[in-house]
Amino acid sequence: MDELTSRYLRPGTLQLGAPPPLSVYVHLPWCLQKCPYCDFNSHATPSDGLPEARYLDALRADLEQSLPLVWGRSVHSVFIGGGTPSLFSPEGIERLLADLRSLLPLQPGCEVTLEANPGTFEQGRFRAFRAAGVTRLSIGVQSFDDAALKALGRVHDRGQAIAAATLAAEVFETFNLDLMYALPGQDLAALDRDLDQALAFAPPHLSLYHLTLEPNTLFARHPPVLPDDDTAALMLDRLAERTAAAGLQRYEVSAYARPGHRCAHNLNYWQFGDYLGLGAGAHGKLSFPHRVLRTVKWREPAAYLREALAGRATSNEEEVGRKALPFEFMLNALRLREGFEEALFMERTGLPPSAVLPRLEAAAAEGLVEPLMTAQGRWWRPTARGFDFLSDLQERFL
Ligand SMILES: C[S@@+](CC[C@H](N)C(=O)[O-])C[C@H]1O[C@@H](n2cnc3c(N)ncnc32)[C@H](O)[C@@H]1O
Ligand code: SF4
Repeated sequence: MDELTSRYLRPGTLQLGAPPPLSVYVHLPWCLQKCPYCDFNSHATPSDGLPEARYLDALRADLEQSLPLVWGRSVHSVFIGGGTPSLFSPEGIERLLADLRSLLPLQPGCEVTLEANPGTFEQGRFRAFRAAGVTRLSIGVQSFDDAALKALGRVHDRGQAIAAATLAAEVFETFNLDLMYALPGQDLAALDRDLDQALAFAPPHLSLYHLTLEPNTLFARHPPVLPDDDTAALMLDRLAERTAAAGLQRYEVSAYARPGHRCAHNLNYWQFGDYLGLGAGAHGKLSFPHRVLRTVKWREPAAYLREALAGRATSNEEEVGRKALPFEFMLNALRLREGFEEALFMERTGLPPSAVLPRLEAAAAEGLVEPLMTAQGRWWRPTARGFDFLSDLQERFL
């Protein structure tokens, strides 16, 4: 056992149960160009091209360095996100998955999601990703409206979005479409047209995000004219109504799925499961018998390449303090429509029920959450009002 592992295995005050499911998140940080609303760790492709082979070497080194933290565990889901992962070649993705499989066992039926942009779509490419081992494609459609796409600074158009979604439906048993709403110039009729088009693909999963103005983006400095809050609220009502009528359940704040098509990877985040983060700026959360650890990798792609290849992929590593755990758990679990089983809180945080019960009961008295007895035990789920005022509810656990 190396020094690092023994440090995290030493005794402590938390008593965690069996280790939670382990997911792997891989970040591929490049895009064709940076979108004006995006604050993700994404960067325009360097003028001398994508350093694909070198980045894959760095990811492998990062994985090797991380192994002592996840000894003996198998992988429940993989998510290759970005940036624009579909800029990588199918051969590159195949190599990445082969490296993962050779060092960490993937559980049978392991979900492997890849994010793809319609603007990088080529005939044949999606099939090659499928053959490389990707089981689920997540397409960043954003909108099917050419004017909205232009206002968002996207490189793709409606025709490419339709072609990409059509092929995803043909090639993958399950796929997701990302759409944003409350877009510059959008009204309810335009939202309806976007939904008509999205629902025409009978998507197994939709992620529907309210466009937000993030600090440090071009949109924050030069804000476009956006629908007002009342219109945005009406838009959300319309989304909820129409997705439900199409057989999609809103199982999380922004996630809608047909039965059997929830995203296993994101569900694991929301249930406060573990994830190993690989790649530039990737965050990880890992549990040990007596502590919960958070890790971050070097954020700038150039720094990440240099450091990971020199054996130092991690830029920050810290234990989540006892006091912070209830809030961190609730920040995730209360996003789920069905809430969480009470025993899960103890299992995942290692804290006694007394760390949250008084606050859950107070929130219940105010009609923000409700307890629910099931055959397995007690569940806590946000009420419709709690779901509408989610950040207020979550802040009660600070
Ligand atoms: C990390 S991005 C990667 C997906 C892919 N690169 C793309 O943009 O097509 C994941 C999703 O986050 C959403 N997103 C990004 N910036 C956002 C913002 N400012 N407000 C709301 N949603 C946003 C978009 O729907 C996007 O598809
Ligand atoms: S393509 Fe996606 S990740 Fe890249 S800049 Fe645009 S929104 Fe961000």
